[in-house]
Amino acid sequence: MKIIRATDYDDMSRKAAAVMAAQLTLKPNCVLGLATGSSPVGLYRQLIEWHQKGELDFSSASSINLDEYVGLSPDNSQSYRRFMNENLFHHVNIKPENTHVPNGLAADPKAECARYDALIREAGGIDMQLLGMGNNGHIGFNEPGEAFVKDTHRVALAQNTIEANKRFFESADEVPREAYTMGIGPIMLARRVLVVVSGAQKAKIVREALCGPITPAVPASILQLHPRVTLVGDAEALRAID
Ligand code: F6R
Repeated sequence: MKIIRATDYDDMSRKAAAVMAAQLTLKPNCVLGLATGSSPVGLYRQLIEWHQKGELDFSSASSINLDEYVGLSPDNSQSYRRFMNENLFHHVNIKPENTHVPNGLAADPKAECARYDALIREAGGIDMQLLGMGNNGHIGFNEPGEAFVKDTHRVALAQNTIEANKRFFESADEVPREAYTMGIGPIMLARRVLVVVSGAQKAKIVREALCGPITPAVPASILQLHPRVTLVGDAEALRAID
């Protein structure tokens, strides 16, 4: 694993954006696996800036997001589809039809999971998967458990995740209790993985994930087995790593 040390959030965002921009430049028709949450917002902002200066072209790229809340419509202000539209897609020239987020309103959850896995397969897998890391070690919404789950699945969010994500809602009660998430399989098959971590609250889990045993109790620990991971972290998130 390549660890890149950044000073702060902005520095992390610029450095990680440079890695993703290199991917887009090397393979303009690449498949980007994308994440939501606070960690990638600065990275997306930087990509938008480079795009607006004419330095980055998304016209041949496609994207597949990690997850979506069950029960939220694409235009719900808390949905991950809306997050992606507002934080990236509407500001760059990626074709809307080439962007993919699980359908939170799917009538048949099993069929939705199968559809998403087929979509990832038909895209030829993911060239670069961007990940944040939950305080409990989740990646996507692959929550700590007794086994790694390979395929897209519907998951009950961990209490810790509900607590962490309530900052985006009026109250914890409003955080959806379930989500669709890409499984560990396509993440591990991604040709490259880019992880962004920021802030002191991530220091403990980053250490466990990188230096502890590989266990489904810390889903991000599986990344120790991936041959091409770049982790960009700020000083606070990396302070427990030598
Ligand atoms: C988001 C996702 C989650 C987040 C994680 C960290 O699509 O899949 O795994 O990356 O919860 O969230 P932040 O970046 O808000 O700390």
